[in-house]
Amino acid sequence: MEVKAFAPASIGNIGIGFDIMGLCIQRPGDQVVARHSSTPGLRITEIRGATGLPTDIELNTAGLAALRLLEHLGATDMGIELEIHKKMPSGSGLGSSAASAVAGVMAVNALLDAGLSKKELLPFACMGEQIASGGLHADNVAPSLLGGIVLIRDNHTFDIVQFPVPPALYTVVVHPQLEMLTKTARAILRPEVPLKTYIEQSANIAAFVSALYTDDYDLIGRSLQDVIIEPQRAGLIPGFHAVKAAALAHGALGSSISGAGPSVFALCKGAFIAEKAGKAMQAAFSAVNISSTIYTSPVNIEGAGIIL
Ligand code: HSE
Repeated sequence: MEVKAFAPASIGNIGIGFDIMGLCIQRPGDQVVARHSSTPGLRITEIRGATGLPTDIELNTAGLAALRLLEHLGATDMGIELEIHKKMPSGSGLGSSAASAVAGVMAVNALLDAGLSKKELLPFACMGEQIASGGLHADNVAPSLLGGIVLIRDNHTFDIVQFPVPPALYTVVVHPQLEMLTKTARAILRPEVPLKTYIEQSANIAAFVSALYTDDYDLIGRSLQDVIIEPQRAGLIPGFHAVKAAALAHGALGSSISGAGPSVFALCKGAFIAEKAGKAMQAAFSAVNISSTIYTSPVNIEGAGIIL
């Protein structure tokens, strides 16, 4: 018997909520197959769709997340094989390592019929993801697992708030063919925030959250202005300012860096504007000789699941 789990990509930070907010998109997404084996212990037998990722359980985000779950269940002696199907590159800003960790715990939970809820699985997925990103922050893991738009009030107790999703809210993420390690993109950040900047950012976050409850698309646009992280990371992404300007010029409500980058996202009202904004963003990357892939989707309110 085997089970296959799917965990979607996500937009960490949503621009303004560094390490505390994330949004789940429909695709791409990673898959993990878990199956019983007669050899005791957990093993990764195959990683498809990526080269260079570790098959050592302790070094692989899906493997470590699954191991932490098995430890919790007292089931580390069980023979379990994992097969990881990567559908997005690492270092993309799409929450790739988080998606693998989420799919890993979902698959093992289902294989063993352990019955943990998604919220109960969250800490184990975060422990797995932590080895890739260098910090314990659930802004990709939580939306990938639970779906929707989430706030992580506390990254240590995993106090999660799920927001309502305005019905016409559409996302576009443009992934340039560059790799950016989250650890690198975090290392450049200044540890202090000036008081004036803090005031601006907290006003934007509060207004953004209010807009989600009231379906106020214009307010979503006005609030999606990251005055803390984006100015520090923009220089790491060739063409970033032109890509963002292209999104806004084609009707996007707002645009910023997806997770730690280099992907750039925009939030839009409706699919038509998202398609147009995505093409314009891609053209702006092309203008600096960078090819890219566009992903458009509504907010994915389902999150991770088992593929039957
Ligand atoms: N919040 C992280 C960062 C992204 O911006 O560094 C991935 O969790």
